[in-house]
Amino acid sequence: MRVLVIGSGGREHALVWKLRQSARVRKVICVPGNGGIGRDVRCFPISPLDFASLSELVRKEQIDLVLVGPEAPLAAGLADHFAAEGTRVLGPCKDAARLESSKVFAKEFMARHGIPTAHFSIHRDPREALAVLDSRETRYPVVVKADGLAGGKGVVVARTAEEARDAVRRIMIEREFGRAGEQIVLEEFLEGTEASFIVFTDGKTVLPAVLAQDHKAAYDGDRGPNTGGMGAYSTDTLLAPDVREQVLHSVVYPVIDGMNAEGTVFRGILYAGLMLTSAGPKVLEFNVRMGDPEAQVILPRLASDFGMLCEALCEGRLVSYQASWTFAATVCVVLASGGYPGAYEKGRSISGLEMAGEDKRIVIFHSGTRCENTGYVTDGGRVLGVTAVAEDLASAVMAAYEAVNKVHFEGMHCRRDIGARALHLFQGGYA
Ligand code: AMP
Ligand code: GLY
Repeated sequence: MRVLVIGSGGREHALVWKLRQSARVRKVICVPGNGGIGRDVRCFPISPLDFASLSELVRKEQIDLVLVGPEAPLAAGLADHFAAEGTRVLGPCKDAARLESSKVFAKEFMARHGIPTAHFSIHRDPREALAVLDSRETRYPVVVKADGLAGGKGVVVARTAEEARDAVRRIMIEREFGRAGEQIVLEEFLEGTEASFIVFTDGKTVLPAVLAQDHKAAYDGDRGPNTGGMGAYSTDTLLAPDVREQVLHSVVYPVIDGMNAEGTVFRGILYAGLMLTSAGPKVLEFNVRMGDPEAQVILPRLASDFGMLCEALCEGRLVSYQASWTFAATVCVVLASGGYPGAYEKGRSISGLEMAGEDKRIVIFHSGTRCENTGYVTDGGRVLGVTAVAEDLASAVMAAYEAVNKVHFEGMHCRRDIGARALHLFQGGYA
């Protein structure tokens, strides 16, 4: 099988890395890829939204399966496009992708199907939203969410009415995220622990991946602004087996069944961002793809053949696939450019990668890197995902940070407490 992976992040590097281990996969190519992916497989500088050029590439390279990493091409209908051309594609159709591309759609869908989530109201008129924020019934913090895709930045947890009003103004009036701010969701603030519950599905069978936990805030102790994700870990102890079952029955199956009942088959990867509250797991958001960095800790734990999984999913026979996962623990520490998630500089040379990768427990996935004659240079906000696979979480954390300490580029920053809360070492971090 010849596979095209679409995307350019650490997630896509992990997908490419895993596919290359598959007995079913003869060739992998990537669009547009990054410096590290380009060392492993051939990359093509095509926009993931340029459907015509992608089709041409698929024909020329005789691609048997397209795996779509990020949400934007799915929301724009790339899966529908390839399906119409008879190309197998792993990723949901445009209508199903609304679970991620429209928070309004997702909330109304959850309400229709009794899926547990925060209480909410939807507003098309900023004056109406501001009036709700001023009313005596509104409790703070409150969460303000732009309806459409905003690269993870369209959600504001507002501690005060002032902050919430400011968020409404920026999203709806100043249109900081463009059309994504035509509508907003005002949502009850949920307290608890977050978990990323990711499943593979062909619309009939559901195959849950191992659990992962992302660390979204920029700085240690979950302080600072939200980012795309500064690190993640995966262990079997993240969620008790009975809670896992509860999530499948209260969230995952109702999504798949609800989609089918509404005439839209969800085929691909469904990611439920959960808050584990004292009243049980509730959905914060849906994504219609793998998480990043979650993919970097989940895929190394898959022991069975990933190429076969993709093939079975696309052919609607996931029921026949025997998945197995290792008991190992994984940790991924994201190394980011100085300034990220705000403005940052690119083109800083990266050193120490070879030395860091000498440890057999370490895999380094590239996100924002470019390959130049002199070596790798930074080319994005999140630059590298240093991932460790070990027998338990403590060893994985130690190995990951040992490797992190060998890598350097000017301005580099990372969180020093990835996985720390799970180890009850929250105070000091590891370094
Ligand atoms: P979302 O993109 O909707 O997942 O929101 C991004 C992040 O904002 C989440 O990962 C949470 O950390 C936080 N968040 C979103 N909704 C809520 C909520 N209702 N209560 C508390 N935190 C939230
Ligand atoms: N790590 C969060 C996401 O992929 O959306």
